[in-house]
Amino acid sequence: MTPEKTILRALSGETLPTPPIWMMRQAGRYLPEYRATRAQAGDFLKLCYNSDLAAEVTLQPIRRYGFDAAILFADILLLPQALGADLWFETGEGPRLSTITTMDAVKALKPKEDIHETLGPIYETLRILSRELPAETTLIGFAGAPWTVATYMIAGRGSKDQGAAHALKDTDRATFSALIDVITEATVEYLSAQVSAGAEVIKLFDSWAGSLKGQDFTDFAVKPAAAIIAALKARHPGLPIIAFPREAGFGYIGFAAATGADCVAIDNSVTPEWAASHVQTTGCVQGNLAPEHMVTGGKDLDDATRRVVQAFAGGPHIFNLGHGITPDANPDNVQRMIDVVRGG
Ligand code: CP3
Repeated sequence: MTPEKTILRALSGETLPTPPIWMMRQAGRYLPEYRATRAQAGDFLKLCYNSDLAAEVTLQPIRRYGFDAAILFADILLLPQALGADLWFETGEGPRLSTITTMDAVKALKPKEDIHETLGPIYETLRILSRELPAETTLIGFAGAPWTVATYMIAGRGSKDQGAAHALKDTDRATFSALIDVITEATVEYLSAQVSAGAEVIKLFDSWAGSLKGQDFTDFAVKPAAAIIAALKARHPGLPIIAFPREAGFGYIGFAAATGADCVAIDNSVTPEWAASHVQTTGCVQGNLAPEHMVTGGKDLDDATRRVVQAFAGGPHIFNLGHGITPDANPDNVQRMIDVVRGG
């Protein structure tokens, strides 16, 4: 019998002698083969919606490095697009969306049942991957958490301080809450369809959770995640879920218990030793090597990688970066990190 996949074993709470490993943005611009396939597709969004090419770029880092998990190639902003927002990417700058700041605009969004019309190619990517991935590789589906998705829908773009979303939250709570609810319910439908199409694990990216403080963190990071996780687990019993409330700091403590997540992904604004003693005590953690090491390499990379492995060696751990790998990273440094994790 083939042993169960290592990522699934870690997610079920097992401490493994060598942590399984994958990397946020592992299919991305630092890889020449990714840049070639993106050029073939035309642009980033065309690549996301071309199931064959999206599956191809998902597989590229698996072929090159043998990661233990493949993450669906898509983007958290496809869901707002499926809900009716305009979405495009400005070269060298990032995403742009039509903005949503009024109750009328929230009410004009499409009903959650209609998102599958736009998102069908994403489910097809997952079906291709379920057939083509090596038997030992876990397939991860994902979505943005409601707060993070809302920050882009309200501002129409990324921002350093999420100021527009905070302003709406603080001045028109009814509209803001209605938007969070629409995203929450649509996210359940989207992720549930991903699982039906072959995703074995779900990851919820709350990249801007760190800017929610106090009660706001509870109301708009914890509660929507808890609602999504409860609904998904009711439909798909036993489905493992990774939550990533990036830069949550003390908010990481108790986050798994409060949301029902099986694993909490940790960014590199906290040390691995702190996360081991405050977060890993209650279950699996993922993380948290600083992505900068993929640019700089050398002995610092070896030392920092060993430090992460050793800090988390006493409990269930999935090795990853603290955030996505950047386009200026050197592919050789990724191999070096993997060799240190697997070879000691
Ligand atoms: O991790 C993976 O390899 C899976 C694919 C994936 C992408 N985006 C591909 C992508 C995932 C999981 C995401 C999530 C995502 N997208 C997040 C949450 C995680 C995080 O990084 O904090 C956010 C906030 C987005 C929104 C988004 N997409 C932004 C802000 C940008 C522009 C910034 C940038 O890096 O250029 C994107 C574009 C994007 N998404 C790229 C990739 C590979 C680069 C696009 C390109 O090829 O030109």
